[in-house]
Amino acid sequence: MSVSSLLRTSCRRAFGVIGGGRRSVSDLLSGVHVVPRRSIIDLSYSTHFMDFKGSSIPSSMQKLTVTRLSQHFKEAVCLNTVPVPTPGDGDLLVRNRFVGINASDINYSAGRYDPSLKPPFDCGFEGVGEVVGLGLSASARHTIGETVAYFSDGAFAEYTVVPAKKAMAVPSAKPEFLTLLVSGATAYIALKRLGELTEGETVLVTAAAGGTGQFAVQFAKRAGCHVVGTCSTDEKAGFLKSIGCDRAVNYAAEDLGQVLRQEYPKGVDVVYESVGGGVFDLAVNSLATGGRLIVIGFISGYQSASGVATVKGGTLPIKLLQKSASVRGFFLPHFLRDYQEALGSMMQMVAQGTLVCEVDCGDQAQEGRFVGLESVFRAVDHLYAGKNLGKIVVEVAPAPFASSKL
Ligand SMILES: NC(=O)c1ccc[n+]([C@@H]2O[C@H](COP(=O)([O-])OP(=O)(O)OC[C@H]3O[C@@H](n4cnc5c(N)ncnc54)[C@H](OP(=O)(O)O)[C@@H]3O)[C@@H](O)[C@H]2O)c1
Repeated sequence: MSVSSLLRTSCRRAFGVIGGGRRSVSDLLSGVHVVPRRSIIDLSYSTHFMDFKGSSIPSSMQKLTVTRLSQHFKEAVCLNTVPVPTPGDGDLLVRNRFVGINASDINYSAGRYDPSLKPPFDCGFEGVGEVVGLGLSASARHTIGETVAYFSDGAFAEYTVVPAKKAMAVPSAKPEFLTLLVSGATAYIALKRLGELTEGETVLVTAAAGGTGQFAVQFAKRAGCHVVGTCSTDEKAGFLKSIGCDRAVNYAAEDLGQVLRQEYPKGVDVVYESVGGGVFDLAVNSLATGGRLIVIGFISGYQSASGVATVKGGTLPIKLLQKSASVRGFFLPHFLRDYQEALGSMMQMVAQGTLVCEVDCGDQAQEGRFVGLESVFRAVDHLYAGKNLGKIVVEVAPAPFASSKL
């Protein structure tokens, strides 16, 4: 089911709740003395401040807060007990089931995203959970009990207030949906808008077995390209082959530069580059004539004070000129006009069973599965140790029926 049809379904359900029939909000208000707008928590007053399963929303909750700016997540972030927030008119109150971990969680905690943002501030970019409260305007598109996935700040909390326009109804609270919101969307839109992929071209994906890399591999294959993917273990290389990667390079066992020189002497046409530093330099040197290198990130520099991995910038102009090649930057928030189409298209692929959304919930991690907000710290370490296979997801709370008092 597409996102738009999912949203339409949720609208229909919301109207049913409001009017007991199929009337729109404006129909309901016509001829009625309009009182000033106010926010409400739950449209069913009989269960005011109660979620759809009948278990009370507590008055307080846990959330992660950035209390000082640092690229070292544990130094920057504290687990606090705070009041459960109240949604505004256009907002949802979501009880988070799962939240996604991103490499840039430490860029955010270091204040690199928005330098005007001063601590304390919330963190976490994405979540999946149940709507347990909502404002009046938000009720036009969503309803209590609905499961939503969202890309919005403040996800590292038991409950998050989410603007309704940033939430998408999903069939169930599966962690797989979290792989699409940032990681999948980045790969989809970056390759579509900046990749200019043509069938038969060669695409190099770095950090290929991670959250976003896995999607870049699959979308490049769907475009009929030959895909080379880098990773750090044989297990990850096996996974890459299973999702269609033609040449998985475990750089801990093989020299990436040598592989590229020997096996791809004409160079690679497109690079989906997430590592930076020496890998960026290598990728520039490996570009074919007319090649396009998309800067997705430079994770090898994020843990440093500057946040940037040094590259050989001085020789870049001549290298690009000699090959009529280009280096292009991509930052997802600048491409939100493409977001809905990307999500809809990926949801269709998921429904058809043609897109692998690999999730790493920490089952293979030393201290076990990532459960509870406190395990976000372990999950960030897991990512920076390069131990993840697929998108890292933390389970914040058990399924609602498990905690329901009914
Ligand atoms: N531009 C955007 O809008 C956007 C959006 C999303 C993500 N990104 C970028 O995409 C990249 C991947 O992010 P993600 O959240 O999806 O993480 P991820 O790929 O799930 O995990 C990061 C992977 O990078 C490799 N890695 C970790 N630390 C490294 C280091 N210090 N040096 C070299 N490689 C390291 C590891 O893979 P191996 O050990 O297998 O190499 C690790 O599994 C990051 O650069 C991130 O900033 C950008």
